[in-house]
Amino acid sequence: MGSLDHEEELIALAESNEAILYINGIRHVLPNGLAHLTLLQYLRDLGLTGTKLGCGEGGCGACTVMASYYDEHLKKSVHYAINACLAPLYSMEGMHIITVEGLGNRRNGLHPVQESLARAHGSQCGFCTPGFVMSMYALLRSSEMPPTEEQIEESLAGNLCRCTGYRPIIDAFRVFAKSYDALYTNVSSASTPGGDFVCPSTGKPCSCGSNAVTNRTSAENVTCGNGYKRVSYSEIDGSSYSEKELIFPPELLLRKTKPLNLNGAGGIKWYRPLKLQHVLDLKSRYPDAKLVVGNTEVGIETKFKNVQYQVLISVIHVPELNTLIVRDDGLEIGAAVRLTELLNLLKKVVAERDAHETSSCKAFIEQLKWFAGKQIKNVASVGGNICTASPISDLNPLWMAAGAKFRIIDCKENVRTTLAEDFFMGYRKVDLTCSEILLSVFLPWSRPFEFVKEFKQAHRRDDDIAIVNAGMRVSLEEKDGKWAVSDASIVYGGVAPVSLSAPKTKHFLIGKSWDKELLQGALGILKDDIFLSDNAPGGMVEFRKSLTLSFFFKFFLWVSHQMEGKQSFTEGLPQSHLSAIQSYDRPSSSGIQDYEVMNHGTSVGFPMVHLSSKLQVTGEAEYADDTPMPPNALHAALILSRKAHARILSIDDSGAKISPGFKGLFTSKDVPGSNCIGPVVYDEELFATEIVTCVGQVIGVVVADTHENARLASRKVHIEYEDLPAVLSIKDALQSNSFHPNTERHMKKGDVEWCLQSGECDKIIEGEVQIGGQEHFYLEPNSSLIWTMDGGNEVHMISSTQCPDKHQKYVAHVLDLPMSKVVCKTKRIGGGFGGKETRSAFIAAAASVPSYILKRPVKITLDRDLDMMITGQRHSFLGKYKVGFTKEGKVLALDLEIYNNGGNSLDLSFAVLERAIFHSDNVYDIPHVRLRGKVCYTNFPSNTAFRGFGGPQGMLITENWIQRIAMELQKSPEEIRELNFQSDGYVLHYGRQLKHCTLHQVWDEVKASCDFSKAREAVNEFNLHNRWKKRGLAMVPTKFGIAFTAKFMNQAGALVHVYTDGTVLVTHGGVEMGQGLHTKIAQIAASSFNIPLSSIFISETSTDKVPNATPTAASASSDMYGMAVLDACEQIKSRMEPIASKYKDKSFAEIARACYMERIDLSAHGFYKTPDIGFDWVTGMGNPFRYYTYGAAFAEVEIDTLTGDFHTRKADIVMDLGFSLNPAIDIGQIEGAFVQGMGWVALEELKWGDPAHKWITPGFLYTSGPGSYKLPTVNDIPLEFKVSLLKGVPNVKAIHSSKAVGEPPFFLASSVFFAIKDAIIAARAESGYSDWFPLDNPATPERIRMACADDFTKPFAISNFQPKLSV
Ligand SMILES: Cc1cc2nc3c(=O)[nH]c(=O)nc-3n(C[C@H](O)[C@H](O)[C@H](O)COP(=O)(O)OP(=O)(O)OC[C@H]3O[C@@H](n4cnc5c(N)ncnc54)[C@H](O)[C@@H]3O)c2cc1C
Ligand code: FES
Ligand code: FES
Repeated sequence: MGSLDHEEELIALAESNEAILYINGIRHVLPNGLAHLTLLQYLRDLGLTGTKLGCGEGGCGACTVMASYYDEHLKKSVHYAINACLAPLYSMEGMHIITVEGLGNRRNGLHPVQESLARAHGSQCGFCTPGFVMSMYALLRSSEMPPTEEQIEESLAGNLCRCTGYRPIIDAFRVFAKSYDALYTNVSSASTPGGDFVCPSTGKPCSCGSNAVTNRTSAENVTCGNGYKRVSYSEIDGSSYSEKELIFPPELLLRKTKPLNLNGAGGIKWYRPLKLQHVLDLKSRYPDAKLVVGNTEVGIETKFKNVQYQVLISVIHVPELNTLIVRDDGLEIGAAVRLTELLNLLKKVVAERDAHETSSCKAFIEQLKWFAGKQIKNVASVGGNICTASPISDLNPLWMAAGAKFRIIDCKENVRTTLAEDFFMGYRKVDLTCSEILLSVFLPWSRPFEFVKEFKQAHRRDDDIAIVNAGMRVSLEEKDGKWAVSDASIVYGGVAPVSLSAPKTKHFLIGKSWDKELLQGALGILKDDIFLSDNAPGGMVEFRKSLTLSFFFKFFLWVSHQMEGKQSFTEGLPQSHLSAIQSYDRPSSSGIQDYEVMNHGTSVGFPMVHLSSKLQVTGEAEYADDTPMPPNALHAALILSRKAHARILSIDDSGAKISPGFKGLFTSKDVPGSNCIGPVVYDEELFATEIVTCVGQVIGVVVADTHENARLASRKVHIEYEDLPAVLSIKDALQSNSFHPNTERHMKKGDVEWCLQSGECDKIIEGEVQIGGQEHFYLEPNSSLIWTMDGGNEVHMISSTQCPDKHQKYVAHVLDLPMSKVVCKTKRIGGGFGGKETRSAFIAAAASVPSYILKRPVKITLDRDLDMMITGQRHSFLGKYKVGFTKEGKVLALDLEIYNNGGNSLDLSFAVLERAIFHSDNVYDIPHVRLRGKVCYTNFPSNTAFRGFGGPQGMLITENWIQRIAMELQKSPEEIRELNFQSDGYVLHYGRQLKHCTLHQVWDEVKASCDFSKAREAVNEFNLHNRWKKRGLAMVPTKFGIAFTAKFMNQAGALVHVYTDGTVLVTHGGVEMGQGLHTKIAQIAASSFNIPLSSIFISETSTDKVPNATPTAASASSDMYGMAVLDACEQIKSRMEPIASKYKDKSFAEIARACYMERIDLSAHGFYKTPDIGFDWVTGMGNPFRYYTYGAAFAEVEIDTLTGDFHTRKADIVMDLGFSLNPAIDIGQIEGAFVQGMGWVALEELKWGDPAHKWITPGFLYTSGPGSYKLPTVNDIPLEFKVSLLKGVPNVKAIHSSKAVGEPPFFLASSVFFAIKDAIIAARAESGYSDWFPLDNPATPERIRMACADDFTKPFAISNFQPKLSV
């Protein structure tokens, strides 16, 4: 075979050519030795930090860049979006990479994509923003025609945003869509032919709707609800900007692709052969070599499963592996063909060939629609998917069912063919020897009366791996006037270690007539054909089994539907059964925002865009991890416990010490100060000493020269443990009396016991509510850079935190330094949501130890999986209620016990429990109340603050029993809600009397806006005619108390400097985390000085400017810091007043200069403490809150009762925010909170190794990344999303009559939960179940499907079955 000759030829070729890569038009020579690097690492090391690392596993899109290459066959450059975090650096050789920095910037002008996003309020924290910009840009560059709105939304499905709720992003990009092109020439029309609204200000379509706002101070000034002018697609490809567009580098047009032979750290060899023969030679020389195409599997294995491959062979450029041939008998698809290319070809053949030939092709097209995000599909290969042999591969069941054949070639160039059905041999085991590779796949055309169909159910429809999927095929032939099965194949994924054929079912089907008898018989056999043990990996056993039957039932109906009208086919399909087979095609979503501008001065009240928006859309905005590493700096990685509860017997660090780049290892004995830490109670150890109390507890810290080397060294520390019994759920804690000390709370009103026994209650119900936790999933993982100054006399740090004060305190405490010598600065953070209030501080403190001892800068940035694993989440809760009520539905008594899962340290869990208790009435008048709560101690990482801080859990328990009362009385929950509403004057269960209650107004407004009774009728009508799809709706109110419940925290400081050029620098104690705090504060300062917003600058939050600052939390920061800043501004103004009154016609700058000349102090410290609050837990009386923010929401959903799939059709929200300081930002907060809340109630499920999930190692978090933990994507938001601010309701209790907004809207997403429950009620009624049933939060597809009890669930679960939940 002469393999060595070829090898030498390869080496020779490679050595004669340099590896190059163009980045943003600039040529880079790639040195040898970097085969271990991803493109993202390389870009960020170059200082191109606009491209972010959000997850490192292809699941968030924050790292999206555009790759371009010259296609010699097409004779043009091809552009596509990729995830830089998964792309091996050398796989990009010879390409042009455009990052966000290559589009536009503030100095040279923004690209229209950037401009539109910035103006449309499409960025909040901004961490996801460059990724969105690049996805959109790549779509435009790769489209010959302007894309449709649907294509735009589809192309964004691989990008996550945790802040915005996506609506403004879609609006920003919608203007580039084809559907609107004609409109740009027809400005005068008031609406589009489709009835879309045309903005009166811009003359272009937009989502401000007919409710465009009127500025009260200048009534003639009608503006678009979004307050910005839109740009059009034509501006990107035809006009001035295109001159600045980066062109494809001419060198790459001419350059021939060369083979490569390069190396990387740890002896990795990277080959890029260009001929099949070279691939085979290499494979013969290195039998264990891995072929790489998209690296979407290999990349995950090396990063997360710690697998090291020594030889990697990139086969992207091998022609024989890239064939796409349309043959007479079917398609020949090369193994390296990328999924996007396959999809394009399939679409083409479906359009061109007879319909009966392309049944399989259509099934593949449908399946690929729900396969990963665009960035993955653009690089992942057919062969990579097949050879990975994942049991949940979406395509393998289809290859098998469709009768595909795989061509395999060995090193001697012998080719053999095997049926796909015979290829998969076991868990990730295929019929390939070390000397073989997959060459191509042959997909035969389907024949007349042969039907192929795909099925998939995942946690989330878009960009998610399957829970169960399937490929099914049946061939029918007419015999004796009946249609009988001549051949069949039924294959499932997700039910075994391998894609699994159902052989007995197939055998049964063949020869049978296609009728109901066949269906019943097949279902009966399928039950036994697919076996899943109770503790099967992946869990959800009952759901998975039910899905196998549901899919077959759907297949039966679908084939019957295809056959309808065929001669002698008699198996008619009832109209209502069509609902089982209608596929979900998501139309583009739309939004309406309705508000009025109540302006005050130059800025307050206007819908100003976020002050950082331009920095964010251009990637210029810096986050902690973007800070350049100082000379001599080291990277830190944590040594973590791998046991839930254990005694540490020994720590062996010898492996770490000889690891590459190792510089030091530090444990508790090295801590200069105290090893005991905690935000309230010091019940945590910085580094565990003798006992570990959760998986992920920090035992020590390693520093090394690179992030990778630090990680590697930390993994080499070997720890011996002695296991101790662990408490792994709330119920475990109750059984073993495991509570955090002194965390019991009681509150009462009236006399519950008397009421429940008095006979006044017509009915008394008792029950439990289980609520799962939620991961914050801020897009920016925790990060800190720490350094010492003056020989170690001072410590400084830049941290991603909502509370720099806590970082300062913790670091001073563990280093035994006075706080005055420790400074923490935070410029902005990429989202926090409560997760960076306290749980970021121990990370900074851990890294401060090596920095202080070695006197070297140390950076620590957590990988996403670790961040999720160790930093705690929203508390899971258990509520046990007893409620008495009248037959009309009036609630008389509530006896409630609530427990939250605190984890292994107290952190903020007690305050979270307290807030849950305060909010346990939601908005209802309950004469007799008894509330008792305790914080459970469990062996999980400490749970912590998360938007709503226990309030939503308290209110969700309430709404659960409200909904149950309605079912008991056969009334609507909305009726029960209205009957029990609180009003002005009502005395709450903690003695406070309600004033300025706007509950009735927000409720009535939503009810009118959604036309509730009409919506109800329409839903009932739909449900009547659709057996397998059901719609549901719900309206839910909320009342959220504003203030920190700990009185001392309700204080705020600010520092304002006026400079002689008339500009103003404001510093305050609050952190900008995307919520627009700095923008609102700047508006307040600008209005106070009566100067333009552009004259105000807020640089950062810093403990040396404003001391002892309370965390940016509790929704109260605009209220508090706004007042503190106003106080400082007013002080300066009063000092300036004598000069200002003298120079009335002078500018602010001139007056400032004149003041300076008069030696007037132009700097002031402002302070504010929230008045009239305080609560006494001994008496249970007081004013814990300054005021309440009210809101109400309507939601309508549709569920697929056979699979649990759902989507939200409509959401309509009304919030009372007083006179909004900035309605655009406030609407962004509402939309973002609502969508985050939708995640909590329906998508996001944390799965821990606990009694409910025995297949997970005890104490471990299984869902530790975006691959397994599913946030809402752009395609999960309500199709119609309306947000209105209540008008004409000034709030007398807060700055400029505004109200706080951050947390209050979050709970309104429970309207989606109750709408789902409403739909399930309709489904259960069809099976004869009309009683109340439990539905735990979140209502995931598993819970929805199992609650829709029917014949397909009956064999596996009772009708009131509760799927397992980590609580
Ligand atoms: C974020 C994300 C989302 C995903 N979503 C889905 C999904 O929805 N559905 C789904 O099914 N999968 C999904 N996957 C898995 C993904 O489809 C597969 O990882 C992908 O198809 C593999 O292709 P690749 O080219 O990237 O493989 P690579 O990682 O390059 O290679 C994978 C494996 O295949 C081997 N291989 C590749 N080509 C050959 C060949 N010709 N002969 C022999 N061996 C070969 C490689 O050696 C390697 O072992 C997802 C992955 C990620 C990261
Ligand atoms: S960082 Fe690459 S997809 Fe998340
Ligand atoms: S703005 Fe999208 S994650 Fe923050």
